[in-house]
Amino acid sequence: MAKVKNSYFLDSMRAQEKWRVEECINLLPSENASSPQVRALLSADFSNRYTLPIKKVYAGEYLENTYRGTRITNDVELKAEEVAKEVFRAKHACVQPLSGHIAAMITILSTTKKGDTILAISPDNGGYDGYAPEYIPDILSLRSFPLPFDPAVHNVKSEDTAELVKKKKPRLVIVGASSILFPYDLGPIKDACRTAGSTLAYDGSHVLGLIAGGEFQKPLKEGVDILYGSTHKSFFGPQGGLIVTNNKDLDEQIRKNLTWRVIDNAHWNRIASLGQALLESRRFGPQYAKQVVKNSQRLGKELKTRGFPIMFEQLGFSKSHQLLYDPKKLKAKFGLGFNDFSVRLERSNLITDSVGRLGTPEITRMGFKEKDLPALADIFIAAAKGENVKKDVKAMRDRFNLDFRFDS
Ligand SMILES: Cc1ncc(COP(=O)(O)O)c(C=O)c1O
Repeated sequence: MAKVKNSYFLDSMRAQEKWRVEECINLLPSENASSPQVRALLSADFSNRYTLPIKKVYAGEYLENTYRGTRITNDVELKAEEVAKEVFRAKHACVQPLSGHIAAMITILSTTKKGDTILAISPDNGGYDGYAPEYIPDILSLRSFPLPFDPAVHNVKSEDTAELVKKKKPRLVIVGASSILFPYDLGPIKDACRTAGSTLAYDGSHVLGLIAGGEFQKPLKEGVDILYGSTHKSFFGPQGGLIVTNNKDLDEQIRKNLTWRVIDNAHWNRIASLGQALLESRRFGPQYAKQVVKNSQRLGKELKTRGFPIMFEQLGFSKSHQLLYDPKKLKAKFGLGFNDFSVRLERSNLITDSVGRLGTPEITRMGFKEKDLPALADIFIAAAKGENVKKDVKAMRDRFNLDFRFDS
């Protein structure tokens, strides 16, 4: 095999930036673009540093921190927590989880014991695969059962869930999903959880940027005990995770599951970067979140009008950053399944996933407004029919913001 060139990784960085940033339009709901400030912080000196403010006795001496030189790093974490509390209107925040999955692991570890039962949305209904019995529940020796779900409205059946909670008395109920279009009716679920002594958690990985901006729903206010998720999907931060709660005992449990259980080095460059994104959300989040939702609704409408099988028209297509399209109708119209269809779109530099979702976070960060979506829908349909529209995609890309700076 040829030796990897000394310049390979720097070359690949330039190639990636040229392609994915300058030439593509990204319609993935799981990705976003962050500001130059958020990206700069990722390569700051914090990326080379440790801090471990765990008090312990070592070689007969009492240590406040295993490392020195941590004055600024420690403060960065505290300030990031402070802004997270403000943005999510929560009493406690933890910014250490390295990703949404790790935030889920910490939450589940902090709320369950071996042999307990948890309920979560099945991957068959767009739930996160990590909660399927063979993944996190297997590692933590938990039993996982699916929440009752109505595919016709793509939502959890709240009353049936409440009944199931009363019957099974699970230790933990998790709402939130990878495919999420509409807010959950949390009232009945919350009441049943209180009665059964279950913790109610909200995996907001996908909708965190909307929740931060006051859109979609307000899980903590509506009664969930804990909200957690990824910080890089509809939220425009670095890749990572966070957890917020109003419950002091839960916060204490979470802290006990950080150092040496799920985390050692929490990557303080990521935390500084997340802090910056949270500050941006404090200022620009509401406007951004509203526009994301308006863009997904309008994109849904424009695609549907052009005969593309976007689902849930009767419900206004979506109240989130996502749209779903129908696999059977896709096959009937274009002769392709989700995967081959997404490959076809990628040939025109339209980036989507291969599970039938479209997302509007990144185009919103580029500056797309509703008026821009008919033209995008035209390009999308041409690509869908098999035309190569790379040039049109590039021309459209060039009309928008390339550096994702927030206006100040
Ligand atoms: C609902 C949900 N939870 C958790 C995760 C895991 O997040 P991460 O990729 O940040 O670990 C995902 C990722 O797609 C997700 O969709």
